[in-house]
Amino acid sequence: MQPTVSVHLLPSLVDPAELADGTVVVIDVLRATTTITTALAAGAAGIIPCLEIETAREQAEQYPDPVLLGGERRGEKIEGFNLGNSPSEYTSAAVQSQTILFTTTNGTRALDRCRQATRVLIAGFVNLSTVAKQLKLAASIHLLCAGTDGKVSVEDTLLAGALVDRLVQQATKPISINDQAGIAQAAWLQGSQGATDIPWLSLLQQGLGGQNLARVGLSQDIPICAAIDTCSVVPELNLQTGIIALP
Ligand code: MLT
Repeated sequence: MQPTVSVHLLPSLVDPAELADGTVVVIDVLRATTTITTALAAGAAGIIPCLEIETAREQAEQYPDPVLLGGERRGEKIEGFNLGNSPSEYTSAAVQSQTILFTTTNGTRALDRCRQATRVLIAGFVNLSTVAKQLKLAASIHLLCAGTDGKVSVEDTLLAGALVDRLVQQATKPISINDQAGIAQAAWLQGSQGATDIPWLSLLQQGLGGQNLARVGLSQDIPICAAIDTCSVVPELNLQTGIIALP
């Protein structure tokens, strides 16, 4: 059967049942999936995504071992939480061997959409090449973009496009892509051209997600999230336990 790559530019643009047949890659470049990848690369034991702040707090109380609470609302650290959603906070010193209960506005909602999938992987620009390599043998791939507050985001579209482009380049037989994958790939092919090291950085800064970060004084996170291949791990959501970890 011909391998397929489908991009969904928003979680609401795909019926969760459609994800049941394949490997889903969740993308929230600014910043949830970048931060999850960074945390696990830094030695965190696992990340447990929670939809609501209260659920995270309750689970922290019930968890058999000490845990950290991490995440954001409106981009900022949540009151009483140990960590916000800046990848730079998730250093080895802060997270080594720790389990983190994690809640964000859009990223954890996108993850929740994937409960029927066969496999769920986590991607950012920070692990682009490792994710692309790992997807090489998958027959049905869904790239699920979190977007920003229900709107398509430039940063998630660009990363989806970069992944589509890698998958098309590395394919040994023709692959079938949906229209959103074609749109994302075209955006990436244009957005990745330029004289600077990271030509897409300015697009991330100008987008709604970038503007939201600038508003709360966190624009220094954007270059960290735009950088390619600073991590060589692929986090995976265990659909039985609900924990994201390295395989
Ligand atoms: C999210 O999940 O909505 C984002 O990661 C937002 C943010 O980082 O501020």
